[in-house]
Amino acid sequence: MEIKKVGVALLGLGVVGGGTYKILTEKREAICKSDGVDIEIKRVLDKNSERIKELGIDESLVARSIDEIAADKEVHIVAEFFGGVEPARSFLIRALEAGKSVVTANKEMLSKCWHELELAARRGGGGVYFEASCVGGVPVIRTLTDSMQGNAITSMKGIVNGTTNYILSRMSDEGASYDACLKEAQRLGYAEADPSADVDGFDSTYKNSILSSLAYRTRVPVDTVYREGISDIDVKDIAIGKDLGYTIKLLAVSKCAGGAIEARVHPAFLPHSHPLSSVKGSFNALFLHGDNVGDVMLYGRGAGALPTGSAIVSDIAFAAGKERHRRFDFETEEVDRAKFVGDFSCGYYLRVIADSASLGKIIDVLRRNGVSDCAVKTVGENETVFVTHKIKESAAKRAVRDMELLSGVEKVAALIRIED
Ligand code: HSE
Repeated sequence: MEIKKVGVALLGLGVVGGGTYKILTEKREAICKSDGVDIEIKRVLDKNSERIKELGIDESLVARSIDEIAADKEVHIVAEFFGGVEPARSFLIRALEAGKSVVTANKEMLSKCWHELELAARRGGGGVYFEASCVGGVPVIRTLTDSMQGNAITSMKGIVNGTTNYILSRMSDEGASYDACLKEAQRLGYAEADPSADVDGFDSTYKNSILSSLAYRTRVPVDTVYREGISDIDVKDIAIGKDLGYTIKLLAVSKCAGGAIEARVHPAFLPHSHPLSSVKGSFNALFLHGDNVGDVMLYGRGAGALPTGSAIVSDIAFAAGKERHRRFDFETEEVDRAKFVGDFSCGYYLRVIADSASLGKIIDVLRRNGVSDCAVKTVGENETVFVTHKIKESAAKRAVRDMELLSGVEKVAALIRIED
């Protein structure tokens, strides 16, 4: 087999950049044999010289600027690990305009600047690859782009953030505290530099935007994805939910029916029997439904240096073998916002603190808001849980507001959506 020589530049040598360096170095020969591409790290760029030393990288490979990398004819692919929008966006546009292909794990930048990157790629002739941006080491992007062409995808449900899944799993299984689990997730290299991106649901929202855009072949902007994080989840509700037959997860959900798209990220109870309920720790999974294939579930490590590095390396090898790069023509500036559904439907778990004399009035409020029947469980003195069938989000929010206006009701202490 004829061997193609491919030069790579790595921008940033933190957790994932370091993992990628290690895999590329160790697997160079194996990839050469299997894919016929000899991937050589030609340049690295990182302000932190300690990291460069720790990885044992030769000084001669260290670039001083992105311009130096853009001008280097021996660099064909630029892989970026900075995170955040800038300078990642400008550096990748610079590389694309110089004719390189780019590989990124940066879901925030990609979800917000995808169109700009695509335009720069068209001008330069390279490609934009981002397998590592969603669900870490699990090949979800390649599945959507290269394995589902014979389907219209109608829904996706996934656990797409390792940090929050790690936290919720440990809170649920061991009763561990939220703060201790978050610290451990940071130590293990799962969490973002600012973990609010994980726990407040932003990271899952970026991933939902990317995955839904690919699934429905239309742009699903980040700001059309409903978002709620896990920081208000009380360990008490996790325990009550468990007794009721539910597991708590931070879910990314999206659906497409008749051209209408619904995309959201929020904590949700799933029946223990749902396949996603058994996805624990930093593992992620994506459950897809295609009109011809039916259900498909992809599962694996969603975060960490080596799982994410594995996806980056696969993109580098994939991009290196392409004569013509893929283009996403659905990426336009104009978005028809009318097609996005904000008022979705779910079941609802409501924990209400109220005196027992108010229970009848609470049930009346639920009835007025479309709940024909609901399960009621006393969970403490003056504390009751109501579990509804599917109703509109707007009706659930209205019911909460109306309940809190009742004398005898102190507050609705928890609202958790239920998915089936
Ligand atoms: N912070 C992210 C997570 C990293 O926990 O899933 C992988 O995207």
